[in-house]
Amino acid sequence: MNYYFITGTSSGIGKALAEILAENPENEITGFARTDTMDYTPNYAHVHADFHYPEELAKYDFPELPDAQRIVLINNAGAMSEIFRVGKLDNLKTINDFSVNILAPAVLSNNFIRAYQNYTVPRIILNVSSGAARRPVDAWSGYCAAKAGLDMLNETINLEQFFYPEQNRIKAFSVAPGVIDTRMQDNIRLADPEEFSGLQRFLDLKTNNELFSPEKAARLLLSVVEKHDSFSGTLLDVRDL
Ligand SMILES: NC(=O)c1ccc[n+]([C@@H]2O[C@H](COP(=O)([O-])OP(=O)(O)OC[C@H]3O[C@@H](n4cnc5c(N)ncnc54)[C@H](OP(=O)(O)O)[C@@H]3O)[C@@H](O)[C@H]2O)c1
Repeated sequence: MNYYFITGTSSGIGKALAEILAENPENEITGFARTDTMDYTPNYAHVHADFHYPEELAKYDFPELPDAQRIVLINNAGAMSEIFRVGKLDNLKTINDFSVNILAPAVLSNNFIRAYQNYTVPRIILNVSSGAARRPVDAWSGYCAAKAGLDMLNETINLEQFFYPEQNRIKAFSVAPGVIDTRMQDNIRLADPEEFSGLQRFLDLKTNNELFSPEKAARLLLSVVEKHDSFSGTLLDVRDL
C-alpha cells in the first residue's frame, strides 16, 4: 500500500491531488482540512482540522504502517487572508496565515519524521511552496515570509537526514506549483489595486487563460514524488520540471 497524508484536500490543488491518487486502489489517502468536500471514496479518510490552531494538530499521531511501500506527507494547505502592506495588516489574519503556511507544516513534519524515521521504504515530504518564497511580492509579506520559512524547513530537514543511515533517510521537497486557477487566485484578483501593485498581472493571467488547472498542478507535483530519486536539488518549481 502507498500512504498519502495531504493537507488542504477540500479545494484547489489538494482536492485534485486526493482525487487523482484515489483512482488507484493501492493508495490510501488521509486528508486534512476544516471541510470535507470529497465524494465518498473508499480509500480516502478525512481528518477535520483547523490549522489556525496548530497545537491541536501537534497531537496528531501518524499510524504505524507495517505494509507500506511508500509514505508521503504533502503539506499543501495554504492561506493568504489579506493583501495589504505592512503597517496596514490585521494581526489576527497574519497570525492565521503563519499558522497555516508554516507552523502546521512544521508540526506535521516533526510528527511524520518521528513516526517513520526508522522505516526503510521511500518516505517523502512534499511541501507546496510558491514563487513568493523566493522573491518579495508587494502586499504579500506574511505569505512570502511563511513560504520562505517552509523552504528553509525543507532544506534543514534534508540536511538533518544525512545524519541517519542511508536506508532510513526521508526526503523533503519544496515545490512552487505555478499559478493555478483556485480559490486563492479568486481572492488575489479581488485585491485593492491601490494596495497591490501586481494586481493587473493576475487579472491578465485569468483573462488570457494562462492559469494552470488544479489537476495539471497536482499531476506535476505528483511527478516529483514518482521521480524523487532523479533530482539533484530539493527546492523545485514545476515550471522547470
Ligand atoms: N493557486 C495558486 O496560484 C498558488 C500559487 C503558488 C502556491 N500555491 C499554494 O498551493 C497550495 C494550495 O492552494 P490552492 O491554490 O489550492 O488554494 P485553495 O483552493 O484556497 O485551497 C486551500 C486549502 O487549504 C486549506 N486550509 C486553509 N486554511 C486552513 C485552515 N485554517 N485549516 C485547515 N486547512 C486550511 C483549505 O481547506 P478549508 O478551507 O476547508 O479548511 C483548502 O483545502 C497552498 O499552499 C498555496 O499557497 C497556490
